[in-house]
Amino acid sequence: MVKQKERRPGSKTVGGPGAKPQRDVRRDAPLKTGEPPAKPARHDGTRSAPAARNRNERTAEPRVAASVSAAPERPLIVRNGERPAERVPVILESLGAGDFHLIDSGNGLKLEQYGPHRIVRPEAQALWQPSLAAHVWDNADAIFTGDTDEDGMGRWRFQREVLGETWPLQLLGIDFLGRFTAFRHVGVFPEQIVHWTWMKEQIEAAKRPLKVLNLFGYTGVASLVAAAAGAEVTHVDASKKAIGWARENQALGRMEKLPIRWICEDAMKFILREERRGSKYDIILTDPPKFGRGPNGEVWHLFEHLPSMLDICREILSPKALGLVLTAYSIRASFYSIHELMRETMRGAGGVVESGELVIREAGLDGKSPSRALSTSLFSRWVPK
Ligand SMILES: C[S@@+](CC[C@H](N)C(=O)[O-])C[C@H]1O[C@@H](n2cnc3c(N)ncnc32)[C@H](O)[C@@H]1O
Repeated sequence: MVKQKERRPGSKTVGGPGAKPQRDVRRDAPLKTGEPPAKPARHDGTRSAPAARNRNERTAEPRVAASVSAAPERPLIVRNGERPAERVPVILESLGAGDFHLIDSGNGLKLEQYGPHRIVRPEAQALWQPSLAAHVWDNADAIFTGDTDEDGMGRWRFQREVLGETWPLQLLGIDFLGRFTAFRHVGVFPEQIVHWTWMKEQIEAAKRPLKVLNLFGYTGVASLVAAAAGAEVTHVDASKKAIGWARENQALGRMEKLPIRWICEDAMKFILREERRGSKYDIILTDPPKFGRGPNGEVWHLFEHLPSMLDICREILSPKALGLVLTAYSIRASFYSIHELMRETMRGAGGVVESGELVIREAGLDGKSPSRALSTSLFSRWVPK
């Protein structure tokens, strides 16, 4: 590994004097749902949380005000059974997979490899200094130059040539498109690989047809992994654009024949309806943002709605369910808050609740040299054993 000898990479130095020609490109307009109105009152200081992130991270669609609440009238069910056993803390770690690895991080930035492209993006949790020399960072193919306003859109600066908006990637055998979006995202959240690998193993080992529900499913990589492993999948996201991208990913992998229902709807509304209908799922993945909006302006606020969401999810788990998996990011909370909520919600269900953090370990330029761990999110999952 090349050690740092010169100046450190950072927003001021990357692309500074002597750097290669650059082009700034603003990709796609904001999507239509997913985040609160521009510049809302800050509800907490997300940057200081254990898994703190920019509020705009991992949301497909920041956008307009509307005040319809998706908070259900439905009261929480009183549950008196024993709480499931617990396993804490569990750190689920990934060193990258397929076409992705984290090369280096530091100075509030991360340097990642996505297939042929090396990309620099903000990473508030990288408080340390980068390991690699500044010229390695400066040579990245694309650098996200978001304004420092957390709610702001950003531009991609291309160091050599202007790159296409999308490019092919593969993870866990699934083809999909990497994508330079306006909000620093690249069409996939690779820290989820650990959940997807777990889910794939469950589906393959089950030897029976499983039904998987992917709530807040974004570009559908998890849905495609589940369907390719043999499950019947229901994918729900509030963003028409994200659903369109998910369908593109399905077509790219020639997976159109696989049983996936793509549903553009508010997640709470959808699960409430499923509960009324008596629908059941064997595995539920839910990866909600802190704030979001349904297609009709329904408000999702994690701290208000998560207890209800888990309560309803429990009701739509099948009697032989294999897991309920929650990821939470960009919130000021310990994993214990989602852990204890999950245990309360799953009272009487037996099994075990395991909770902790999802981390990605730096893997160096070659993708094989483990170094520091970068925390990305909190998780809690109930499993029957
Ligand atoms: C962090 S992304 C999920 C990423 C996904 N788990 C993955 O790894 O590919 C959050 C998603 O929630 C969606 N969303 C936001 N508010 C929503 C709501 N009220 N109902 C359904 N989806 C919503 C956004 O459109 C976005 O795609």
